[in-house]
Amino acid sequence: MTRLLLLGSGELGREVALEAARLGLEVVAADRYDGAPAMLVTPHRRVLDMTDPVALTALVDEVRPDLVVPEVEALATEALLALEAAGTHVVPTARATRLTMDREGIRRLAAEELGLATSPYRFASSEAEFVQAVAEIGTPCVVKPVMSSSGKGQSTVRSGDDPLVAWAYARDNARVQGRPVIVEGFVDFAYEITLLTVSHVGGISVCPPVGHVQEAGDYRESWQPHPMSPVALERGEEIARTVVAALGGHGLFGVELFVTATDEVLFSEVSPRPHDTGMVTMISQPTSEFALHVRAILGLPVRADDLVVATPSASAVVLGTEAGVPSYAGLEEALAVPTAQVRVFGKPTSHPGRRLAVALAQGDTVDQARERAREAAAAVRVTVG
Ligand SMILES: Nc1ncnc2c1ncn2[C@@H]1O[C@H](COP(=O)(O)OP(=O)(O)OP(=O)(O)O)[C@@H](O)[C@H]1O
Ligand SMILES: [Mg+2]
Repeated sequence: MTRLLLLGSGELGREVALEAARLGLEVVAADRYDGAPAMLVTPHRRVLDMTDPVALTALVDEVRPDLVVPEVEALATEALLALEAAGTHVVPTARATRLTMDREGIRRLAAEELGLATSPYRFASSEAEFVQAVAEIGTPCVVKPVMSSSGKGQSTVRSGDDPLVAWAYARDNARVQGRPVIVEGFVDFAYEITLLTVSHVGGISVCPPVGHVQEAGDYRESWQPHPMSPVALERGEEIARTVVAALGGHGLFGVELFVTATDEVLFSEVSPRPHDTGMVTMISQPTSEFALHVRAILGLPVRADDLVVATPSASAVVLGTEAGVPSYAGLEEALAVPTAQVRVFGKPTSHPGRRLAVALAQGDTVDQARERAREAAAAVRVTVG
C-alpha cells in the first residue's frame, strides 16, 4: 500500500486525505494539535511541532512514507531538504516548499530570476532600513513579515501614518523572529484571482480562474469562473505556467494574481499545494483541486475534461465568533438553499475569525452562485460550549 504522510491536517489536508483514500492510499495525518480535520478521516494520526527539524525528521523515519505531502507553510523546511536528499519524495519538491514559505525566496525567484511583473518591493531587516524602504516605495504600501500566512502581521501604510506602527506589527506577528519584512507597493487592482495550476505527467494545466474576496488577510468568498478578458487570461496563464515550471515537481499549485483595470497582470504569491480559495472546486469542477493534487503526485493523468467548469459556482466561509468548543445549528436552513452544500470541518475549538465550515453553491450566473453560497453560509450558526 502506498503511504502518504500529510504534514498539516486542516480542512484542505482533509480533502487531500479523502481523495488519496479514494485511490487506495494509506494516509497518516500529522499536525501540531490533536483532532485536526484530516485526523477525523484516517485512523493514523501524529501530533508534533512540525517546525522542529528533529521532530519532523523522527516522524518521517518512523512513518516511512512513500510520499510526504506538506499542507501548511509552517514546517522545518531544512529538514525536508535533507530528507529529500536522502531519498524521501517531498511534494512537489522540498525546494518549492522552502521557497514559497518565505516571501523573500518566492518574490526574488518570480521578479528577479523569472522576470515576472509584481508590485514594487523592498526587504528591510532594521528600523532604519524599513523607514528607507517605505520612503522608496511610497505610500500606500503593504507591509508583511516574510514568513506569515492568512494576513498575519500584515498592514497597509497610508500617507500620514506612522510607518513604525506597521514595522512593529509585522515584527510582533511574524512566524519566525529575526527575518526581514517586505514592503510592497499597494496594487490598486480591479480584481484578484487564483489560477489553480496542476503540473502532472502530461504537462501543466491551468483551471478556469477563481475570483475571491479577502478580508483581514483571509478569504471570505470565492467563485469560478471569474470573467476575464482574453488578454488578461492569457497573461495570467503564462505567469502561472512559468512559476510552476520553475518550482518543479508534480502537484497542484495556487497562483495568486492581481489584475488591474488596464489588464496588467501581477504575480503576488503561490502555494505549492491546494489553495483555500480553491475549495469552490469541490462543487465547480468534475475533479476538485484536491483530487487533481493527488492524481498529479501519483503520476496519474489529468485530462482537459477534469477542469471544465460547466456551471458558475461559489464558496463562502463560516467563521467562529467566540472561543470554545463549537456546535452547529441552521444546517436545515442552509441546505434548503437551492444547490447548496455545506462542509463542516470538525475543528475541536473555535475562536473569533477561525474558519470552521464552508458553504458551496451553483447558479445560472456567478452572482447567483455567490448569493446562494453566502445565504447558506449565513444560515449556519456556530455556538460554543
Ligand atoms: N501589494 C498589495 N497591494 C494590494 N493588496 C494586497 C497587496 N498584497 C496583499 N494584498 C491583499 O492582501 C491579501 C493577502 O495578501 P497575501 O496573499 O500576500 O498574504 P497571505 O498572508 O499569504 O495570505 P493568504 O495566506 O491568505 O494567501 C491579498 O490577497 C490581497 O487582497
Ligand atoms: Mg495569499
